[in-house]
Amino acid sequence: MNAAAQPFDARALRQVLGAFVTGVTVITTLDRNGKAHGLTANSFSSVSLDPPLILWSQSRSAPSHPVFREAERFVVNILADDQIEVANRFAHAGSDKFAGCVTRAGLGGVPLIQGCAAWLECRRIDSFPGGDHLVFLGQVERIERTAMQPLVFGGGKYLVAQPHDLGLMATPGGTNVARLKAVRLATRALVELSDDLDETLGLGVWGNKGPTIVRWEEASEPVSDNLRTGLVLPVLTSATGLAFAAWLPRQITQPFIEEELAQGLDLVRVEQELAQARASGIVRLVGSDRFTDLYGTSISAASVPVFDDSGQMVLALTAIGSSQRIDLSDGSPLVTGLRHCAAALSFRLGGRSPAQVASNDPVQAV
Ligand SMILES: Cc1cc2nc3c(=O)[nH]c(=O)nc-3n(C[C@H](O)[C@H](O)[C@H](O)COP(=O)(O)O)c2cc1C
Repeated sequence: MNAAAQPFDARALRQVLGAFVTGVTVITTLDRNGKAHGLTANSFSSVSLDPPLILWSQSRSAPSHPVFREAERFVVNILADDQIEVANRFAHAGSDKFAGCVTRAGLGGVPLIQGCAAWLECRRIDSFPGGDHLVFLGQVERIERTAMQPLVFGGGKYLVAQPHDLGLMATPGGTNVARLKAVRLATRALVELSDDLDETLGLGVWGNKGPTIVRWEEASEPVSDNLRTGLVLPVLTSATGLAFAAWLPRQITQPFIEEELAQGLDLVRVEQELAQARASGIVRLVGSDRFTDLYGTSISAASVPVFDDSGQMVLALTAIGSSQRIDLSDGSPLVTGLRHCAAALSFRLGGRSPAQVASNDPVQAV
């Protein structure tokens, strides 16, 4: 079809293509003189597992195109979510893209960029014309994955990959859509509460690996650099975990509790803690050294439950802070703010505490 006959323009096409979210790679190679070349590319895609084949495509007008057209080997460097600077650097024409960029030599000497989420070292086995691009088919010869999270690109922006709330919430009962709504509502509430209190707040859900933080809102003085979404916490020694242990049906939490008790925790003490949490409506964990490795300091935390209309706990709102700083006493702005926020969220979700469900009490506005 010629351009005049197309019922859409290039901008509309770009917008539609931007709805398909991708990772971000830098494809590297060496020219005949052994000079390194690289460009940012999101056209990368897997093709075949057996044999292992991948593809990517390059604009024929790219300055580096003659080099890639000739090159026998290339490396797909899958960028990590802290490598936006690398993505930008390799997306702009210039002779000095590798200056200050730490690399190591892979197969055939082709550079692997340090700090990536993964690498695929490939031999080019074919190329196909594709309009204004050339499609390269590569045979994968060596691979490596690191613990880094991949950088994401969609709608013309760099994005961060997070576990999907629906994927995480494997609890029986209630609809997944209702749970997603809960997370969306709570995310907004968390931002406001964190602004009001200037405390670090987390939003926990029950995932298939147990208590999982799906959102963090940081205070102006961050507790730690290690606050990441997807963080899975212990059930019996974290405030978020204890909240789920206190309010979720025991059949859901039991396998996790048993595993942790086997590590030497005292069941009687745990049950006392849970009973106290249920009675007071809040879990408090004061001065725990359990997370010093993770947060770099002794931590105090409080967690409150949010319920849906069946009386099931759907979320934990958790505040954490350095033990020297955070005030978890009853009536403190933090504890009051957490309680109000959780109650308001439960109300908006049509939520009722288990006690209300049992006594058939009407839902109360807060
Ligand atoms: C996120 C992103 C993805 C890109 N994907 C591709 C791609 O798949 N193929 C391509 O030819 N250019 C792509 N580009 C543009 C090239 O990175 C850019 O034109 C670069 O300057 C080409 O390198 P060179 O100038 O050294 O030839 C992309 C740019 C960005 C920011």
